[in-house]
Amino acid sequence: MLKKMNLWKNQNNSSSLRDRIQQIIDHEVPSHVAIIMDGNGRWAKKRALPRVAGHHEGMKVVRKITKLANELGVKTLTVYAFSTENWKRPKMEVDFLMKLPEEFLGTFLPELIEENVRVEMIGYMDKLPEHTRKAVSKAMEDTKGNTGLVLNFALNYGSRAEILDGVKRVLADVQSGIMDEDELNEEVFSSYLMTKELNDPDLLIRTSGEIRLSNFMLWQLAYSEFWFTDVLWPDFNEEHFVEAIEAFQSRQRRFGGV
Ligand code: FPP
Repeated sequence: MLKKMNLWKNQNNSSSLRDRIQQIIDHEVPSHVAIIMDGNGRWAKKRALPRVAGHHEGMKVVRKITKLANELGVKTLTVYAFSTENWKRPKMEVDFLMKLPEEFLGTFLPELIEENVRVEMIGYMDKLPEHTRKAVSKAMEDTKGNTGLVLNFALNYGSRAEILDGVKRVLADVQSGIMDEDELNEEVFSSYLMTKELNDPDLLIRTSGEIRLSNFMLWQLAYSEFWFTDVLWPDFNEEHFVEAIEAFQSRQRRFGGV
């Protein structure tokens, strides 16, 4: 597996990073990693660039981390690309963010296909602009047979809305007799969420020093390990990802037990 990796060629600490990667692979790799990619605006501001320049740089980081996660054997990588609250941003920024999936997939889809990555999405797709919807749907269709990493975009996603919609659908199913109220348990309720096909995240990463969930996967993160870093998302690299997974591997998960 390591032979495939040419990521580290020009880095001074290449051998130690390679060793660390091998160590990771030899231990339990988190099956589902979710990332709140924060700090694009501040990254741009520090460089006197428009905020959207930070988003554009952040898009390239998604590619790098997807590649590495796939090579490490992570099964699902969920990236929070646009929240239901992000519509409040200036129109120009929203328009830019809505074009990023097209640019990302337009550029990298062949590579994702070659790497056996499957593209998925959670979020309210029908409220996305048509061009965004088309790009994501095409990628999902073109990669549906792939068996490697699932790259799951949270796009126009909001966890409270997701949970409320789930509750409404449960009520409708109970009222119409499709489901008995007594059958409702955590597992059944999970199947009413947008993540019904996915395991819950094992590890949540948030960049940029903010320590909050921002309406992201509130149900699904109940037992996840959290890892926060001050690094701004456009500066996040393979070494940071390795560090997060090492931290995960050093923790003892008890799921409420002892
Ligand atoms: C938060 O940073 C980031 C977002 C709202 C957008 C995240 C999107 C990307 C990283 C690119 C998505 C890539 C693809 C492939 C679709 P912020 O703007 O709130 O940063 P700030 O807190 O520093 O202002």
